[in-house]
Amino acid sequence: MRTILFGPPGAGKGTQAKRLVEIYGIPQLSTGDMLRAEKAAGTPLGKQAAAIMDAGGLVSDDIVIAMIEERTKLDDCKNGFLLDGFPRTIPQGEALNAMLANKGQKIDVVVGIDCPDEVVRDRAVYRRSCGACGTIFHLQSMPPKVDNTCDKCGHVGLTHRADDTLEAVNKRLTKFHKETAPLTSLYGAILQRVDGTQSPDVVTRAIRAILDPLKAKPAKKKPAKKKGASRH
Ligand code: AP5
Repeated sequence: MRTILFGPPGAGKGTQAKRLVEIYGIPQLSTGDMLRAEKAAGTPLGKQAAAIMDAGGLVSDDIVIAMIEERTKLDDCKNGFLLDGFPRTIPQGEALNAMLANKGQKIDVVVGIDCPDEVVRDRAVYRRSCGACGTIFHLQSMPPKVDNTCDKCGHVGLTHRADDTLEAVNKRLTKFHKETAPLTSLYGAILQRVDGTQSPDVVTRAIRAILDPLKAKPAKKKPAKKKGASRH
C-alpha cells in the first residue's frame, strides 16, 4: 500500500502517520523528519536546509527527491509506505510518479487531511515533540500527562520546533497554498479527503475507512474435507 498523507502544515499528518504505521506495518517517510535529523546531526545538508526550514521556506526539489528515492529503496518499503510531507511541489509529484513507474508501481491513494488556516496556526504554536521518539503533543488539546515528559518513552525534554513561530507558520501556509495545494490536480480520482478538525481518533477512523479496503487480503483457506463426508 503506497499512500500519501497530504495537507497543510499542522493538519495532523505526523500524528496520524505514527498511528497508521502501527496499524499497517509500513514505514512513515517524512521528509521533514529526515531533514530535521540531518540538521540535528550537523551534516552539510542539514546546515544548508536549516535556515530555509526555520524561516518556513521549502528545501530544493532535487534534495528531497533524492532523499525519497534512496529511502524507498530500503527493504522496509517493499510492502509499501506512507509519505508525509512529500511531494510538496508539482516537480516533486512528477518525480515521484516517474520513480514509481520505473519500478512498475504507483501511488494507491492520497489522503487529504483538510484543516483551515486558523486551526493549523494554533496547532503549530502549541505543538511540542519528544526529542527522543518523536511523539507529538499539543499543550492544550493533547498535553503530556507529566509536564515536559514524553508519555510514550519517558524522555524528559519536549521541544518546540524553530519553524513553529507564528511568522514561520504564516510563511509555510502561503507556500502550501501556492506550491503544494496545486498537486491535487495530479491525483484527481485517487485523492480522498477527511476532515482534519475532528478529534485525532475520529480522523484515524476516517482514514482507516479509506485504507482498510486496500490492505492485502490473505487468500481464503479452503475448508478441509471431512473424512468420510458424503453428499446428500
Ligand atoms: P514537515 O515536518 O513536513 O512539516 P509540515 O508539513 O509543515 O507539517 P507539520 O509537521 O508542521 O504538521 P503535521 O501535519 O505533521 O501536524 P502534526 O501531526 O505534527 O516540514 C518541515 C519543513 O521541512 C518544511 O517547512 C520545509 O522547509 C522542509 N520540507 C519538508 N518536506 C519538504 C519537501 N517535500 N520539500 C521541500 N521542503 C520540505 O500536528 C500538529 C499539532 O496539532 C500537534 O501539536 C498535534 O498534537 C496537534 N493535532 C494533530 N491532530 C490533531 C487533531 N485532530 N485535533 C487536535 N490537535 C491535533
